[in-house]
Amino acid sequence: MSYGTKAAERLANKIILITGASAGIGRATALEYAAAANGNIKLILVARRLQNLQKLQNDLQSTYKNLKSHISVLDVSKIETIKPFLSNLPSEFQKIDILVNNAGKAIGKAQVGDIEQEDINDMFDTNVKGMIALTQEIVKDFKKRNADDIVQLGSIAGRDAYPGGAIYCATKFALKAFTESLRKELINTNIRVIEVAPGAVETEFSIVRNYGDVEKAKQVYDGRIPLTAEDIAEVIVFATTRRSNTVIAETVIFPTDQASASHNYIRKN
Ligand SMILES: NC(=O)c1ccc[n+]([C@@H]2O[C@H](COP(=O)([O-])OP(=O)(O)OC[C@H]3O[C@@H](n4cnc5c(N)ncnc54)[C@H](OP(=O)(O)O)[C@@H]3O)[C@@H](O)[C@H]2O)c1
Repeated sequence: MSYGTKAAERLANKIILITGASAGIGRATALEYAAAANGNIKLILVARRLQNLQKLQNDLQSTYKNLKSHISVLDVSKIETIKPFLSNLPSEFQKIDILVNNAGKAIGKAQVGDIEQEDINDMFDTNVKGMIALTQEIVKDFKKRNADDIVQLGSIAGRDAYPGGAIYCATKFALKAFTESLRKELINTNIRVIEVAPGAVETEFSIVRNYGDVEKAKQVYDGRIPLTAEDIAEVIVFATTRRSNTVIAETVIFPTDQASASHNYIRKN
């Protein structure tokens, strides 16, 4: 996809950190940035599954000989590992320009009263506390350097709460509030705070939500045409390649057969 004549120029030599790059939207975003910059970019790709990151790195390096990438295991919910991860980045990757806070998950659909404490902790520790801890560290450096962008993966779940989503929705409402405060706090800087809030995207998201049950995960999309990870990656790359006077502050992106968290058109065949 073309992001305009200036996009590759604007991305040239930028250092981009993407959390949750081992699958879904994070992986697609890495590939989309590489394509938009013609490989003239440096990517820091983190998640818990090293093998997936290695595969992504191989795919990137075989297509773009000029691309530089650094992969690392980072579990954002282990907050104490965030500072050491950042200070141990190779020197050529230290001045991050764009942070994509993408790592996140929903676990289960249990209703209040029946939600496992372990699942509550995992969702809040990853989607909220880990995201905040990483942003806190990075924003200090961004302020010193007047760096570029912080991209937040929100969700329609952060605007429209639904039964069986009490905790996931609460984490994405929390992300939205944090993101709005941050944008206001950074008003006197060049740092742009961008929230991208998708509806249904078919990734590993539903597999994780259904505790690894692939069949149940598939049923979520029965009779629907969900978004793909690439659809969201395109919006992220578009938003971060606008002219520096422009902030795409928020976008809600639905598949055309969705109009709210629970209002979907289901085809009958
Ligand atoms: N899919 C949707 O319908 C949808 C809709 C709205 C918003 N979103 C949001 O979009 C983001 C990406 O989701 P996705 O759809 O791409 O799901 P996905 O395919 O399941 O990918 C999630 C990514 O997050 C990583 N991750 C999970 N826990 C982590 C942790 N503790 N530390 C570091 N990385 C972790 C996973 O990697 P590892 O397992 O290797 O760590 C994976 O790379 C999430 O924030 C999600 O809430 C998704």
